[in-house]
Amino acid sequence: MDAGLETVVAAETVMSDVQGAEGRLIIRGVDVEQLARDFSYEQTAAHLWGGYFEQMPGDLSSMLGAARVVAFDRMTGDFARLAALPETEALRVALSLAPDGHDLGSAIDLVATMAVATGAIARLKAGQAPVAPEAGASHAADLLRMIRGDKPNEADARALEAYLVTVCDHGLNASTFVARCVASTRAGLGSAVIAGLSALKGPLHGGAPGPVLDMLDGIGSADNAETWIREALDRGERLMGFGHRVYRTRDPRADVLKRVVGGLPASHGRLALAQAIEGRILQRLAAEKPDRKLDTNVEYYTAILLEAVGAPRGLFTCLFACGRVTGWIAHAREQLSTGRLVRPASVYVGPVSALAA
Ligand code: ACO
Repeated sequence: MDAGLETVVAAETVMSDVQGAEGRLIIRGVDVEQLARDFSYEQTAAHLWGGYFEQMPGDLSSMLGAARVVAFDRMTGDFARLAALPETEALRVALSLAPDGHDLGSAIDLVATMAVATGAIARLKAGQAPVAPEAGASHAADLLRMIRGDKPNEADARALEAYLVTVCDHGLNASTFVARCVASTRAGLGSAVIAGLSALKGPLHGGAPGPVLDMLDGIGSADNAETWIREALDRGERLMGFGHRVYRTRDPRADVLKRVVGGLPASHGRLALAQAIEGRILQRLAAEKPDRKLDTNVEYYTAILLEAVGAPRGLFTCLFACGRVTGWIAHAREQLSTGRLVRPASVYVGPVSALAA
């Protein structure tokens, strides 16, 4: 029995290779550093999905732009309902209105719905009217415009795009695994994506970056870090943005995002504080858990990046999902074409009735 399934190999995949000991991430043959630097989000989707859909155009931009418009129109009657729900629950509701097919149209619709709903939820939570998408804009720039309500500058849009690309896929993490389980039953892509989102929202997975900012706010200054960290660890708390199930060294995505944030001058004060606090946390974790190599994970600099581009912290998990949705869909299609129905075994340890005995 392996409760966390670390030693269980449950799929063969061409999507990504998480090399935990080396701190390297390869996404369909391309290192994450190169993917984040050279690929648009639309190109990343085509890169992951190539060969898994029939008749896929080389450039998905126009299909995706048109799908954002359709998704927005479909959602308008439900804005009041979405406004009343916490962000990730609202996103699940919006996704449940999208088609649950297996084809490219369904896949594109889900990616579009994720972005349009995230934008609408941001505006509704701020008490403002949602902003309609622009079909001709890049997916990342349009997403940021729908969140903020104004056209973002090139640097902010590109920073968000680099984030979405960086988190597009990451091996058989919890959300990808459940997405594959659902796909293995032949339920549609929408069902697989909703399952993925439901797993992602937990604080041990994709719910960490909001709490990273809460932690930085709580610490306040580098001088205060030592005491704050010690007290938190004494209370048995986990420090958000540190540790990883697979990486035994630094998560390479943390460095990609740190570099991107470094290019946004508005974030430099926060970045300097984050770096100073990161150093203290790493020292403390090494002293407290010498047998467990705990290093910075993707969520730490995700928090700084998303704050810098003007995303509210309640939206961070939704934005993670906006990036990861292409990976969930790729894995669902791969599971359908090469996998089997997922059905692990369990060991019964409950009581046995006298009758049965
Ligand atoms: N802060 C303090 N202690 C930690 C942390 C942390 N961030 N992470 C692990 N530990 C400790 C645990 O308390 C445990 O200590 P113990 O052996 O004395 O009881 C030991 O390290 C091992 O912990 P596990 O839970 O077995 O490690 P696992 O590999 O399952 O955990 C996880 C990985 C869940 C990411 C963990 O490191 C964690 O909770 N981190 C904080 C939350 C976070 O940043 N989540 C985002 C992860 S990245 C992503 O999903 C996209």
